[in-house]
Amino acid sequence: MTTPPTEDAVLAELSLAEKAALTSGTRFWYTQSVERLQLPSIMLTDGPHGLRKQRAGGDHLGIGDSVPATCFPPAVALGSSWDAGLVERVGAALGTEAANAEVGVLLGPGLNIKRTPLCGRNFEYLSEDPLVSGLLAAALVAGIQSRGVGACPKHFAANNQEHDRMRVSADVDPRPLREIYLRGFEHVVTEAHPWVIMCSYNRINGVHTAEDPWLLTTVLRDQWGFAGLVVSDWGAVNDRVASLFAGLDLDMPGSAFAAAQIIDAVAAGSLDEDVLDRSVRRVLHLVRRTGAHQVSTSFDSDEHHALAREAAGRGIVLLKNDDGVLPLPTQTRIAVIGEFAQSPRYQGAGSSMIVPTRLNCALDEIRSQATGDVVFARGFTTEADSPSGEAERLLDEAVDTAAYAEVAVVFLGLPARCESEGFDRDDLDLPASQLRLLDAVVAVNPRTVVVLSNGGVVALPFASKVPAILEGWLLGQAGGAATADVLFGAVNPSAKLTETIPARVQDTPAHLTYPGEFGHVRYGEGLFVGYRWYDARCLEVAFPFGHGLSYTSFDYTDAVATVNSDGGLDVSVTVTNTGGVAGREIVQVYTSLPGSGVTRPPRELKAFTSVHLDSGASTRVTMPVRRKALSYWDIRADSWVVEGGTYTVDVAASSRDVRSTVTVAVDGDDLDIPLSPMSSLAEVFAHPVAGPIVASAFADQMASLAGGGRAHAGGRGHVADARLVSDRQGRHAGVRRRRGDRPGHDQRTARSRQRSAGLNGS
Ligand code: BGC
Repeated sequence: MTTPPTEDAVLAELSLAEKAALTSGTRFWYTQSVERLQLPSIMLTDGPHGLRKQRAGGDHLGIGDSVPATCFPPAVALGSSWDAGLVERVGAALGTEAANAEVGVLLGPGLNIKRTPLCGRNFEYLSEDPLVSGLLAAALVAGIQSRGVGACPKHFAANNQEHDRMRVSADVDPRPLREIYLRGFEHVVTEAHPWVIMCSYNRINGVHTAEDPWLLTTVLRDQWGFAGLVVSDWGAVNDRVASLFAGLDLDMPGSAFAAAQIIDAVAAGSLDEDVLDRSVRRVLHLVRRTGAHQVSTSFDSDEHHALAREAAGRGIVLLKNDDGVLPLPTQTRIAVIGEFAQSPRYQGAGSSMIVPTRLNCALDEIRSQATGDVVFARGFTTEADSPSGEAERLLDEAVDTAAYAEVAVVFLGLPARCESEGFDRDDLDLPASQLRLLDAVVAVNPRTVVVLSNGGVVALPFASKVPAILEGWLLGQAGGAATADVLFGAVNPSAKLTETIPARVQDTPAHLTYPGEFGHVRYGEGLFVGYRWYDARCLEVAFPFGHGLSYTSFDYTDAVATVNSDGGLDVSVTVTNTGGVAGREIVQVYTSLPGSGVTRPPRELKAFTSVHLDSGASTRVTMPVRRKALSYWDIRADSWVVEGGTYTVDVAASSRDVRSTVTVAVDGDDLDIPLSPMSSLAEVFAHPVAGPIVASAFADQMASLAGGGRAHAGGRGHVADARLVSDRQGRHAGVRRRRGDRPGHDQRTARSRQRSAGLNGS
């Protein structure tokens, strides 16, 4: 590829019509070219776990044929590795395949928070926790972009359900918006500098994200410093001129109609051409940096398949393993049962669905690794309806097969029709036919191992009835081989849950508010998303966030937390592999602040690491917790604030398996909130300027009263004199901060945001 001319040189030559056209896509996946200026067009395409380059035409439903590409594990499995290094390597492989196919931007990663386990697209997302989402998404971005291909985190923001996704308003308060739903995006933008970010379809607090200047400009650019291009989700733009004002640069797949709207608005004087130029410049910059940096490399599809297998092995979570049923000795007589063993479900449906370069199935791979007898029974079909009598026949055959074997390995899961982009599930249940089959198998062979295939979590009513469960998610094209690797112990499982598996759908945080009504879904659980909710409510769960077993065991000793030079924490612990085989452990750090002045979940993840240790080996790991990670979003100051106090630091193997707790004193940020006539006594005393003055005046008065008068102490009344105190200072006490962001405008109403969308571009 040749390097296109500079942005300013091109811009100066462009007509209004050409500029308008450049901010709109063409041929479904491409930016416009301007041949007379040798400006090429570039392709932006899906993503996120493989390349979906369509051969002809285009659709965003994953229907049309696309060129074969390595199908890496979707985010649900890749994220379960908790390993940024591995994720970055997968990202680099994705980038290489994209570069090889001359694709400029890969549309991923997806990092929306898993607010409800029912969301049909959860397989494309990383976690219910913003730290895991942000860190792993940043690693994927770094990997993709290392190959000269732009990454495109999506869907910005609060796209947490598929139901009514084109218009539903996520009505969410400022703190959860910042601390849960935007936090991962903020991390990716500030740390990994993606070239592109994709807005979502939905509205936030009444405003379509595609037309929201607060989101796309104030937060994204002014506060986070985003310097790349904002692209719409495909078809997300409703009002092209409003979206341009808001900061949405490229409308995809775009239309001549949108370009005409822009031209008309400029002609009518309602759109300043500078606003258009700003977006055109960003399109030109993207085209230029793609052409300048892209490394057009060939790649070895065997190597990429091997990486897909490694990543899949690192994504399988060993939920349960009583009596060391797993790993299986290779000579075991095994009954493999379940349709998914021969017809794997390895990716989800919708825009991320790709054509793999090859596909492993678990049955073949088990057969090739086993040295004993392996027998197979389908057990069930994945079709909605099967011929009458078929279910009974399959069940009987499975029972006979299980009875013959030493161990039954039963593959259960969600049929493809049950979950997809575009719709949500109604419940967490596996098909009844599969549960019936499992009961029948366990009745004849209690040594039964369940292997699950599902993109979103499922209820596990059988958890106490079987000795071992592998959560196999959707594992990509090499998932079959990776499953056999884990079953036989060639790979020691190390993955952990990045989302809670709840006991019942009724216990889930969004249960009473999802999916909303009349176009609005109220995020009533606030900050209490995922484990934050289950912990605060002391709810039993099937398996907690952060849980995952190994074929070995790990001890944690000598945990220490200290304040580091950045004002954050360094949390250190010695981890020892106390079992008989080498293994990898994911160590997690959670904090809480007892007695905090603001609402806080009982425990929040602040850092994690993944270490590989030989049997008997020890290592000391240090996990830095950034100061920013300790902060909460203060709605009065409109900024991040670290509250001072003695923090509890849990060093843990899961959110409910805390191995060591230490405490550390952290200095808070200076924060003084303006006093008002409604300020309480406590607020006045806490105020850094007014507090000491009032305290000393109070002491004087007490002293004089002690000489004769009677004190009226206590009382919770407001202090009208707070006003007086401010006046005496000759100024209204402002907010001072040592660290943290510039204030934004989270508390503006939807209406005022809409108004400014129409009035100015900032
Ligand atoms: C999806 C995006 C995808 C786009 C293009 C949309 O429907 O929400 O994630 O990148 O289509 O296929």
